[in-house]
Amino acid sequence: MTTPVNVTVTGAAGQIGYALLFRIASGQLLGPDVPVRLRLLEIPQGVKAAEGTAMELDDCAFPLLAGIDIFDDPRRGFDGANIALLVGARPRGPGMERGDLLEANGGIFKPQGEAINAGAAQDVRVLVVGNPANTNALIAQAHAPDVPAERFTAMTRLDHNRALSQLSAKTGAPVGDITGLTIWGNHSATQYPDVFHARVAGRPASELVDEAWLENDFIPTVAKRGAAIIAARGASSAASAANAAVDHVFDWVNGTPAGEWTSVALPSDGSYGVPEGLISSFPARSVGGRWEIVQDLEINAFSRAKIDASVAELVEEREAVKGLGLI
Ligand code: NAD
Ligand code: LMR
Repeated sequence: MTTPVNVTVTGAAGQIGYALLFRIASGQLLGPDVPVRLRLLEIPQGVKAAEGTAMELDDCAFPLLAGIDIFDDPRRGFDGANIALLVGARPRGPGMERGDLLEANGGIFKPQGEAINAGAAQDVRVLVVGNPANTNALIAQAHAPDVPAERFTAMTRLDHNRALSQLSAKTGAPVGDITGLTIWGNHSATQYPDVFHARVAGRPASELVDEAWLENDFIPTVAKRGAAIIAARGASSAASAANAAVDHVFDWVNGTPAGEWTSVALPSDGSYGVPEGLISSFPARSVGGRWEIVQDLEINAFSRAKIDASVAELVEEREAVKGLGLI
């Protein structure tokens, strides 16, 4: 049997953890031939519930699951991690914005960044899901100076999938016929889902929808979907978030389909005027196991204003965590 890939999942006893772990263990995260060893990281109060989830994982008898270890110490949890899924953090409640969690959750990501720096595998890839995801990823990355910055990403794939679904419902085309969508900026209400390069069954999406629908319907529906789920379910999205995390890592490791791209929040190299180092969502392709920002897309005035607004919020969040001494 090939050497198993070590996958560390934080917040393993939480809602997303429960929806995520079984998919990882069944082979959906990395591929049907790749054995995995799960390393579950929780706070001490979450360990017992994580042990219960581990019992259920055992009871599935997944052929690819090579082992499960449970920790409450980040140094041990990230030791040897090839993939690190940073899910553990408090979710927002009704009436809150994700940025309101900065103070409560930001402190989690400094020690986790340090632990990744100290002991993760050379090839570690990090996906931050816990909110506010972009800025939490920035905090973790700032404390892992020996890990290439590009290995720290935050999740906007759920927003991307939401945008695909909304555009599919509007146009009547199956989601599989839609390409070229992008989520720009922050995983927050300022995010900008951009259809101007999207094609629906080969036709430019901009020929099929008008600007009023984009402005008044599509963009707010996608950007506020997290809040709508909380209002309806009484808890934040979990299965769809786990699904997006699986999509993100699968594409990162296995590559995006030829000619297509997806949306990933990753450290800016200055592309599209986004200040270098900010972890902002871009159109991205995975090539040879690395994310590359898709270059040279034309940005019209409508898009420019919306990208700039979301990036400005990320700059504010960066200042706020500097003020809190987290970076
Ligand atoms: P949850 O409250 O059900 O679970 C969170 C778990 O994290 C708990 O078991 C808790 O004990 C654990 N935890 C807290 N601090 C920890 C730490 N320092 N180390 C390890 N574990 C820790 O929450 P959930 O619904 O699973 O959501 C988790 C996070 O994901 C929230 O911040 C939520 O807002 C966010 N989220 C992000 C997206 C996205 O698209 N980026 C989507 C959905 C949810
Ligand atoms: C989501 O987008 O569903 C998550 O970020 C949870 C939230 O707070 O909206």
